[in-house]
Amino acid sequence: MGYCLVRRKIILISIIWIFSMLLFPMINRATSTSTKAIFERENHTYFANKLLQDKIHLRKVSTRSDGNQSFIKYTRIESVSTDVISHFKNQTVLRTKNTNKEILHVCKCGCCQQKGKSVTIVTALFDIGRKRWPSYERTYQEYLTFAQNVLKLDVNLVFYVEEKGRYFVERHRQGKEHKTEVILTELNNFTFYHYLSQMETVMGSKEFKSNHEQLNNPEGFSPLYNFLMSAKFFIMYETTLRNTFHSDYFFWMDAGYGHGNSDIFPPEDCPWAPCNILNNTISYVKLEPVDIYKPDINRLYKMAVAPVISGGFFGGSKKAIQNFYKLYKDVLEDWLKNGRIDDDQTVALACYFKRPSLFNLVPGGWDDVFKLFR
Ligand SMILES: *[C@@H]1O[C@H](CO)[C@@H](O)[C@H](O)[C@H]1NC(C)=O
Ligand SMILES: *[C@@H]1O[C@H](CO)[C@@H](O)[C@H](O)[C@H]1NC(C)=O
Ligand SMILES: *[C@@H]1O[C@H](CO)[C@@H](O)[C@H](O)[C@H]1NC(C)=O
Ligand SMILES: *[C@@H]1O[C@H](CO)[C@@H](O)[C@H](O)[C@H]1NC(C)=O
Ligand SMILES: *[C@@H]1O[C@H](CO)[C@@H](O)[C@H](O)[C@H]1NC(C)=O
Repeated sequence: MGYCLVRRKIILISIIWIFSMLLFPMINRATSTSTKAIFERENHTYFANKLLQDKIHLRKVSTRSDGNQSFIKYTRIESVSTDVISHFKNQTVLRTKNTNKEILHVCKCGCCQQKGKSVTIVTALFDIGRKRWPSYERTYQEYLTFAQNVLKLDVNLVFYVEEKGRYFVERHRQGKEHKTEVILTELNNFTFYHYLSQMETVMGSKEFKSNHEQLNNPEGFSPLYNFLMSAKFFIMYETTLRNTFHSDYFFWMDAGYGHGNSDIFPPEDCPWAPCNILNNTISYVKLEPVDIYKPDINRLYKMAVAPVISGGFFGGSKKAIQNFYKLYKDVLEDWLKNGRIDDDQTVALACYFKRPSLFNLVPGGWDDVFKLFR
């Protein structure tokens, strides 16, 4: 009886021992390779950057440094997010969500320091039946997926949306309700809806279709698309009038900006603003040199020319937006009267040629907004 017990104990201890021999190095390696590399560095700035770069999942690290206790809880889910309770001397440290623990976020974006300027980002999402298009088709669901990146931005966000997208938008702004204004509307409820029938008339005409080289592009075949593209300027104007967030600057960003590529967006929960372009001009990203198109601007809508300015993002001061709105409306009405229509990129280019001093065209690519403006 006694012998059996002892034998059982020995077996049990052996099993535990074997297990721990097997497991311990695994656990140890998992924690040490990632943390050791970090802790060998002496200073905190580097330490924080290292944390941001590393792809560690849910790790708690405790260490002693400078005779001070630093507690680091590091989480990485999809995009970078680091919680640091520590004594960083020269790093932008922002207090964010107020949990019972003290959570501090380290932001890499330079404009976190920028204070005292309020910026509103404006966007919209409407289903114009794009999935049934003969070309350039995309489903509404795809657009919702794309919109997640814009919804994650830690900015004052005005989102124009119809009923079917409302729940999605609200769900993805949870925790940012105080920075979110959802404008629930339908396309046919817009005060400028009458432009759609004018666009339909123009685009249905023989004159429009003759010698048009881009009839297979949305700008050539979909009045609703062109209407929605021009709606940006009316929506922006309305937003400056309401000015829910008491902002001095307003920027449009397409809801599908980046087409789902989250890598081009700033880290989640990291406040972002286009700080280096806050003035009385309208900033746009210029994809190509623009001036060569000036002589052809009134024929450009029929020509197979790739866009030269990107309509995905633009903006400036409240005053600049209101001036741009008036200019855009004048040019749009002139164009429609003369049987011309195109997307916002070409109409805005015509606005630029009319009043270049209102604009600040910054050379760059489609996806460069967060690289260029911060
Ligand atoms: C912090 O550490 C990094 C890497 O060791 C080093 O390049 C940098 O110069 C250090 N900065 C300061 C202020 O000591
Ligand atoms: C330790 O960190 C705290 C909080 O940042 C700071 O107030 C204190 O001065 C630090 N102590 C030392 C010895 O660096
Ligand atoms: C932080 O570091 C930068 C660059 O080294 C320096 O210009 C700045 O004065 C520092 N700020 C503080 C608060 O120490
Ligand atoms: C129509 O627009 C007005 C504001 O212009 C808004 O108050 C109303 O809720 C909208 N109605 C619908 C059905 O979208
Ligand atoms: C507006 O800002 C841009 C970018 O900083 C600059 O190039 C431009 O000259 C500024 N325009 C005015 C009118 O201040």
